[in-house]
Amino acid sequence: MFRLIHLFRTSIGRKLIMALSGVVLLLFVVGHLVGNLTIFVAPSVLNSYAHWLQQSVMLWPFRLMMLFFLGLHIVMGATLAYENRQAATQGSACHHWWQRLFYNHHMVWSGIAVLLFLLFHLGHLTLGVGASESFYQVDQQQVLDIYGRVVSGFQIPWITTSYIFFMLLVGLHLNHVVRGLLQTLGFYHENYFGLLRLFSIALSLLLTAGFISIPLTVLFGGLN
Ligand code: HEM
Repeated sequence: MFRLIHLFRTSIGRKLIMALSGVVLLLFVVGHLVGNLTIFVAPSVLNSYAHWLQQSVMLWPFRLMMLFFLGLHIVMGATLAYENRQAATQGSACHHWWQRLFYNHHMVWSGIAVLLFLLFHLGHLTLGVGASESFYQVDQQQVLDIYGRVVSGFQIPWITTSYIFFMLLVGLHLNHVVRGLLQTLGFYHENYFGLLRLFSIALSLLLTAGFISIPLTVLFGGLN
């Protein structure tokens, strides 16, 4: 217990917590993408998958656990960003002004964008804020028509555009999460710096492209 408290007290401990909570959130994002891509298989596949999730006794424990890791990630992120800013103004963290600017702003603003996106996304597809009765319609198997929710949502151009915009920012943040993770876990060595950089960019591009493919396909009439 004392060791755990000590972990919060040291800068490297906070970085570790930040990286590990980032891994949990990253795994969620990968799982969520795989689940969402079933939309391209058939409407019933996505609906059955969503129904299976919603019926699970593990749904709320899982949601609470994710909320805990999200909270941890935000608190550690805010603390580390503050510490970095302090160190940078004293000239000890990064050598160049553009590195300081890029590091602080890029990470903090893309993180805030992910948070804003989550609020927008939950309101839009989970809670149905401002939605009509059709939001609760069921399909032929009498389960919630999540496919219909997604497709009708993305047929509205401003919603689609907002998703695409936010997905790009999510991708930017994921790139940072992966890099931070590799760095904290000690994999970021000079010898294969380029390779790891490439890996984190490729992974975030893959995830971003996967998410963006859904609103784009709907917008161009590929799913209806
Ligand atoms: C085009 C991209 C996306 C689509 C089509 C999509 C689709 C959905 C749908 C349909 C739901 C509601 C599921 C239900 O009520 O059964 C949902 C929930 C959710 N999505 Fe997404 N999503 C996308 C991107 C993302 C991203 C990038 C994140 C994370 C950064 C995310 C995080 C969540 C969370 C946290 C929930 C709530 C899960 C829960 O109810 O426990 N989504 N998403």
